[in-house]
Amino acid sequence: MKNPTGSIIFLFLTVSFLIPHTNSKTLNHLKRGSSLSVEGDSDVITSPDNSFTCGFYSVGTNAFGFGIWFTQSSKTVVWMANRDKPVNGLGSSLSLRRDGAMVLTDVDGSMAWQTNTSSTDVDRAELLETGNLVLKNSSGNILWQSFDFPTDTLLPFQTFTKSMKLISGLRNGSFASGYFSLYFDNDNVLRLIYDGPEISSLYWPNPDLNVYQNGRTNYNSSRIAVLDDMGVFLSSDRLQFSASDMGFGVKRRLTMDYDGNLRLYSFNNLTGVWLVSWEALTQPCNVHGLCGRNGVCVYAPEPKCSCPPGYEVSDPSDWNQGCKPKFNLSCSNSRRMKFVELPYTDYYGFDLNYNPSISIQGCRKLCLDDCHCEAFSYRLTGQGVCYTKSALFNGYQSPSFPGKIYLKLPMNVEASGESEQTIYNSSKLVCRSTDAEVVVGFTSMYDMAGKRAKWVYLYTFASAIGAIEILILVTGWVFFRRHDLPATLEDGYRVISSQFRRFSYAELKKATKKFKEELGRGGSGAVYKGVLADERLVAVKRLGDAFQGEEEFWAEVSTIGKINHMNLVRMWGFCSEKRHRLLVYEYVVNSSLDKHLFSNNFLGWKERFKVAIGTAKALAYLHHECLEWVIHCDVKPENILLDGDFEPKVADFGLAKLSQRGGPDSEFSRIRGTKGYLAPEWAMNLPITAKVDVYSYGVVILEMVRGIRLSNWVVVDGEEAEAELTRFVRIVKRKNQCGEESWLEEIVDPRLGGQFSRNQAATLVEIGVSCIEEDRNKRPTMASVLQILVECEDDESKDYT
Ligand SMILES: *[C@@H]1O[C@H](CO)[C@@H](O)[C@H](O)[C@H]1NC(C)=O
Ligand SMILES: *[C@@H]1O[C@H](CO)[C@@H](O)[C@H](O)[C@H]1NC(C)=O
Ligand SMILES: *[C@@H]1O[C@H](CO)[C@@H](O)[C@H](O)[C@H]1NC(C)=O
Ligand SMILES: *[C@@H]1O[C@H](CO)[C@@H](O)[C@H](O)[C@H]1NC(C)=O
Ligand SMILES: *[C@@H]1O[C@H](CO)[C@@H](O)[C@H](O)[C@H]1NC(C)=O
Ligand SMILES: *[C@@H]1O[C@H](CO)[C@@H](O)[C@H](O)[C@H]1NC(C)=O
Ligand SMILES: *[C@@H]1O[C@H](CO)[C@@H](O)[C@H](O)[C@H]1NC(C)=O
Repeated sequence: MKNPTGSIIFLFLTVSFLIPHTNSKTLNHLKRGSSLSVEGDSDVITSPDNSFTCGFYSVGTNAFGFGIWFTQSSKTVVWMANRDKPVNGLGSSLSLRRDGAMVLTDVDGSMAWQTNTSSTDVDRAELLETGNLVLKNSSGNILWQSFDFPTDTLLPFQTFTKSMKLISGLRNGSFASGYFSLYFDNDNVLRLIYDGPEISSLYWPNPDLNVYQNGRTNYNSSRIAVLDDMGVFLSSDRLQFSASDMGFGVKRRLTMDYDGNLRLYSFNNLTGVWLVSWEALTQPCNVHGLCGRNGVCVYAPEPKCSCPPGYEVSDPSDWNQGCKPKFNLSCSNSRRMKFVELPYTDYYGFDLNYNPSISIQGCRKLCLDDCHCEAFSYRLTGQGVCYTKSALFNGYQSPSFPGKIYLKLPMNVEASGESEQTIYNSSKLVCRSTDAEVVVGFTSMYDMAGKRAKWVYLYTFASAIGAIEILILVTGWVFFRRHDLPATLEDGYRVISSQFRRFSYAELKKATKKFKEELGRGGSGAVYKGVLADERLVAVKRLGDAFQGEEEFWAEVSTIGKINHMNLVRMWGFCSEKRHRLLVYEYVVNSSLDKHLFSNNFLGWKERFKVAIGTAKALAYLHHECLEWVIHCDVKPENILLDGDFEPKVADFGLAKLSQRGGPDSEFSRIRGTKGYLAPEWAMNLPITAKVDVYSYGVVILEMVRGIRLSNWVVVDGEEAEAELTRFVRIVKRKNQCGEESWLEEIVDPRLGGQFSRNQAATLVEIGVSCIEEDRNKRPTMASVLQILVECEDDESKDYT
């Protein structure tokens, strides 16, 4: 209170509501005619349960906003009246004027913000327990509420309507309006948009899919959405998701983050930390506009902005400015142009020209002849698909992207000099925290139908069949498979299932009938069969006692829960109570590969090849595709489960990191993995890369060909111990060198009685042997293994004898 008279009136008016400290003015309401001063640190209004506080909030040197924040987490501002117009740290005030308007005035008396309630009978301002600041009249009717004017955050019970937007902050820690927003579009669909200085671009839900393929509807025009106190978000366009810790009693907020992702956060009131319990995009580089004009978002493996060759960063402190060319592109000198290739890269949108069937030379010429063309995108997806680009925005690089960008540069420009900057650091799931590195560089790429090309196909198909669209949506990947479209790449893009959640220990005890039926037991714990209340069959893994803290466990398990691929065992949830740490997985009916390989109940060739290819898909996805670049670290037949159709599902991924903090005494602090499948670098104390999984995969596929455990040790010549594997490889090499025609027959599992594809078997042996190279640099990546396998997938039957 600056003005003593004002203070006296203020004190008089509010005396009965003051907390009994003489100099504190913490209130739970503000009467008409009184005000709060920027100088009084304790000039704040709190909600009756003290969970929210409202007052002046420092947003910079001597700059203040009037906002609402969580009392327990004072850095988490959920609303701000004047985010783009901060007021001076001296002499500014917020008053509830006698005319009924709530007004924020700066030191010079200018109005920074006001409510639309002048000439109403507003009697007081109150902060409700929901975090809603309301102006009420004397009979308690709400005439104005902050919930109608959100900034970047939506709180439980705050209805999101067609007239609202959540607008991100400009950068980390900044409250000023940025460029990303959540809003209801004209077609009634809730979307995320980048609305920057130069361009606007929608990026969520997936712009390559239509409304129905994205699981939404544009039919309901009420355009209303709300987050409830259980953590369930429901929107009139049928978007529905829930917090991974769904349930009552947790403080949550849905925030449009400065990096363009929409995240639901849950507050841990013991540690005071906000944890992400849902997010809209699992792949940060799919956000548009992140790296500005010409910039490219790359996974390194954290997402980073980078400039392409011939370009340099405009303003290192602001990637919205993107990259500027180091040359002048002029129309006259089209003969003196060259093209520089950027593999696995795309710039989304701004297509001058789209040509679905043209040679690369034709595409090149199209771009060369058009002086507006800055680059072209070309992919070999059956026929070449060519897009020429008039501007380069929304650039991203992803190992799964089947095309390349060819940048048009003048001859004399040196195509080098990249600059990168971290957007933010994300946690990685790796085998050991300290010395792990993840290989992202590749030598080859999947040579299969591109994402966008496929959607074109789908669009055409869907419109042809019209009403069957919804059926396509419902049958999802089944549909892809029936039509022999490779489903590998798309699986990663499916919407995160909202099924992932936290279970109580009592619930799991009941589901497993007190852990009665044990399915198996591995390094990290025993697995039990169970039936959930909704009748889903589950496998419940009970982890050892000395596991990491609840907080870390929760964060990491939620990350694993987001990983979704048809060849990976789906995690449906977890339980973390006292010392109990349990993981809940989908139940896979046909047990594990070892039971179908090393017993009398062995698989035929067709199934074996299916298992080899599915496992390669799963590992390629973990290594190159999914957000976190997971290294499995324990690939072996016991961890490859088979479903009803003998489609493999890889189990136990992501656990490496969960167990690494078990402490020195814990059984988990040792090397993860299983003898016989371990790559030599484990023993040599080298950094662990994704190539350890390639090695183990090689052993597994050789075992599938041979039909016996090669990972066993055998005694040769009395004393000398030799791995069965080494002997096998020696035999293969010798037979091959001698050019023996019948070498395959002698190597392949004799139980198959010759019923196998010669070509596929030869391919598996060749891949297997290259995967177990001692020098990991000589081993292929899982992506290139997959490519080779996909090429000979249809070979079966052709050359059965
Ligand atoms: C103030 O604005 C809100 C939201 O736009 C509206 O619902 C309300 O009727 C307005 N109040 C007055 C008094 O104009
Ligand atoms: C408070 O506002 C409501 C709705 O605007 C109105 O019906 C009521 O009469 C008002 N009460 C007083 C005391 O003015
Ligand atoms: C539209 O959505 C709202 C909110 O989710 C719902 O209450 C209403 O029933 C829906 N209307 C139709 C016609 O489905
Ligand atoms: C912390 O949250 C739990 C629910 O998750 C609640 O039961 C408990 O009362 C809270 N503790 C405090 C101090 O708010
Ligand atoms: C591009 O042209 C502008 C003026 O047209 C000139 O100032 C600038 O130096 C040129 N840049 C290069 C790299 O040639
Ligand atoms: C934002 O900045 C704060 C510190 O100012 C840091 O703790 C936090 O991790 C940052 N967030 C991200 C996503 O980088
Ligand atoms: C990201 O992490 C690396 C080390 O892991 C660190 O050097 C770098 O400063 C971090 N960047 C940011 C923006 O936090």
